[in-house]
Amino acid sequence: MIRDAEALWLDIVEDVRWYPSPHNSQPMKLRPISETTAQIYYDLDLGLPAEPFGIPFAHVCAGVFLESLSVVAAARGYHAIEALNHSEMDFDAVDRLHLIGTVRLEPASPGTRSAAERRLAVFRSRQTSRRPYDNRVVGEEILREASAIAAGQGYDFRSTANARTVSSLVQINQKTLFSDLRNDAVYAEIMQWLRFSKDEAAAKADGLSAETMIMPGPILRFAMRNRRLWSFPIIGGLIRAMYLRTMRGVRQLGWLEGPFAEPAHYLEAGRTFMRVWLFFTERGVYLHPFGTVITNPESHADFVAEARIHESGNRMAWMLFRFGYSFTPPTAHRRPATSMLLGLLPEGHIPTGASHE
Ligand SMILES: Cc1cc2nc3c(=O)[nH]c(=O)nc-3n(C[C@H](O)[C@H](O)[C@H](O)COP(=O)(O)O)c2cc1C
Repeated sequence: MIRDAEALWLDIVEDVRWYPSPHNSQPMKLRPISETTAQIYYDLDLGLPAEPFGIPFAHVCAGVFLESLSVVAAARGYHAIEALNHSEMDFDAVDRLHLIGTVRLEPASPGTRSAAERRLAVFRSRQTSRRPYDNRVVGEEILREASAIAAGQGYDFRSTANARTVSSLVQINQKTLFSDLRNDAVYAEIMQWLRFSKDEAAAKADGLSAETMIMPGPILRFAMRNRRLWSFPIIGGLIRAMYLRTMRGVRQLGWLEGPFAEPAHYLEAGRTFMRVWLFFTERGVYLHPFGTVITNPESHADFVAEARIHESGNRMAWMLFRFGYSFTPPTAHRRPATSMLLGLLPEGHIPTGASHE
C-alpha cells in the first residue's frame, strides 16, 4: 500500500481515537487496505474478559467506535459505508484480532459538510464526567429528543428524577464496585487499567486515571492494593463515603433498553449509546456510564427491580448512566494515532514499485 493511501486514514484516526471505551482500554484497530477502505478490528488483548458481559460490551464498544468513525469521516466529506461481520467474539481465540467489519469511504454531498463539522466539534468535546453534578435537572425537551434518537435505532431511552430511585441506583453502583473487587478475576483486570499518578496516566496514555475518577491517587492506590480492608466497617465506610462524594448533585439517571441478545444487537446498542451521548454533549449535558451495574449480574438484577424494568425475550436494559451538569472533567489520555493503525509503514519507507508523489 502506498503512503498516500495511509494519509487520509491517519488523519481520521487522529480524531477517532477519542472514542470512549470501557476502562479506556482503546481496543479498536484499523487496517487500511486502500485509500478509501479499511478493516476494523477489536484487539482481544485489550478486551475486558473478566466480567460475564465482557463479550457483549466489547461489541457495544465496537458500535460506539463505528458511530464515532462515521462522525469523523463525515466532517472530511465522506459517508462511512459499513460491511459488518456479526460473528461472536471469543476472548480465547488464537487470532487476537476479531474482525468487526470493513468500512469504505464514499464522497458525501458538499452541502452536508458544515453540519458534519459541527458534529465533529461536539465529538471532540465529549467526555465522561465523574465529577459532582450541580443539582440542575435536565429539561423535558432534551429528554424527549434523546428518546427520539434512541427510538430511531429501535431502543428506548428512559430516565428517572425520583430522588429515592436515584439514591438507590447510585448505591447499587457503589456496591457493584465493592462486589467486583471481591471477584479475583475482575480485581486483577481493573488493577491492570488503573493509573494512580498523573505521570503514569500520561506515559501509558490509556486506562482509568485517579484524576478522572476524582480520587487522590495515593489514597486510591492504598485502597486498591488493600481490598480486604474494604470489608472493615471504618475503612470500608470511609472509602464508600469518598466515592459517594463524587456523586453529589446527581438528580437523574438514564438507561437504554432494547434488543440485546446477539452481536448485531450489541453493535447497534453501542451506536445508539454514542448518538445519545453526543446529543447530550451538544446540549451541554455530561454523562457517566454505570456499565459495571450491567456487567455484574447481581447488580443488574437489583437495578431492574429498583427501576421496575420489564425485560423479556431478547430485550434488556443494557446501559445505565447518571447525567447532568458539571464543571469540565479532567481529560482521559489516548494512545497516539499510529498505535491504532495496523500495517502502517515506517516513516520514510517507500514500498518497491509504489508511486510516491
Ligand atoms: C460501553 C462503555 C461502558 C462504560 N462503563 C463505565 C463504567 O462502568 N464506569 C465508569 O466510570 N466509566 C465507564 N465508561 C466510561 C469510560 O471509562 C470512558 O469513556 C473512558 O475512560 C474514556 O474517557 P472519556 O469518556 O472521558 O473520553 C464506559 C464507557 C463505555 C463506552
